[in-house]
Amino acid sequence: MRHFLDLDLIAPADLRSILDEAHRMKKARLGQPKGMADKDASLQGHILAMIFEKSSTRTRVSFDVAMRQMGGSAVILDTHTSQLGRGETIADTSRVLSRMVDAIMLRANSHKSLLEMAKWASVPVINGLTDRSHPCQIMADLQTLEESGLALKGARIAWVGDGNNVLNSFIDAASAFEYSLIAACPNGFKPDAKTVENARTKGARIEITDDANIAALSADCVVTDTWVSMGDENVSQRMQAFAPYQVNEELMAKANARAIFLHCLPAHRGDEVTNAVMDGANSLVFAEAENRIHAQKAILRWCLEK
Ligand code: CP
Ligand code: NVA
Repeated sequence: MRHFLDLDLIAPADLRSILDEAHRMKKARLGQPKGMADKDASLQGHILAMIFEKSSTRTRVSFDVAMRQMGGSAVILDTHTSQLGRGETIADTSRVLSRMVDAIMLRANSHKSLLEMAKWASVPVINGLTDRSHPCQIMADLQTLEESGLALKGARIAWVGDGNNVLNSFIDAASAFEYSLIAACPNGFKPDAKTVENARTKGARIEITDDANIAALSADCVVTDTWVSMGDENVSQRMQAFAPYQVNEELMAKANARAIFLHCLPAHRGDEVTNAVMDGANSLVFAEAENRIHAQKAILRWCLEK
């Protein structure tokens, strides 16, 4: 059975084929109304259960739309209105849902819950974000970069800001796609050392600095994310630590002339990114959001392939 838990756990050839499939599926339905099924309706009759322990706009809508377009459907649960909120275990929930649906997507507070769900599931489990990682997001980001014409192999991707879950997934995929990643994060907010070490062992080129200007220098792509992720505390300490890490026009000017700006969204305009960059000609944030649909279709197909 194929779970989609983290990008470092999936063979590079499989990640490549998922991305190719995402491009193919997007092209195959260009210009169609969004509610119209794909011609091949490749997941006809399949049901995805989605469980949200945290808020979501993009993940919720993109998975739901993906399932509908592929001829299947989705059931959406959250902790408040399901028995999870009243103490039913993840293990029991996982075994129950495995009898009712064909795949499970979980957005979890703790990565441990995701692993527990996968341990007990007899259907594929997909990581829809945890405190550790956000692999679906990075597949959509890589699709966005490739469709802009950037070759991932040898590309220089600069991460500016928090060493968080989204950055971890960028690190996890670096060796498979052979981009070099330079992350500028303040002290106390660097990415997980084990994640970096694991990627480097596989040959990934990862640099960590605390200087946003160094990271942005000659970058092909500059990426940032919120300074306060869901579940984070010490908000005022964070806002202070991250103030020098705003992605603004001055920072983008250090990057390559046509450097792309990405942000998984939701953005906090005026904090981690300015309006000028978010709405600038090199910002692909809304294509990036749309690509969640296409990338996740390919992920779902990979998980459910017989
Ligand atoms: N980028 C992302 O995962 O957005 P949501 O939190 O809205 O799902
Ligand atoms: N790092 C953010 C991503 C949101 C999509 C969070 O975890 O809240």
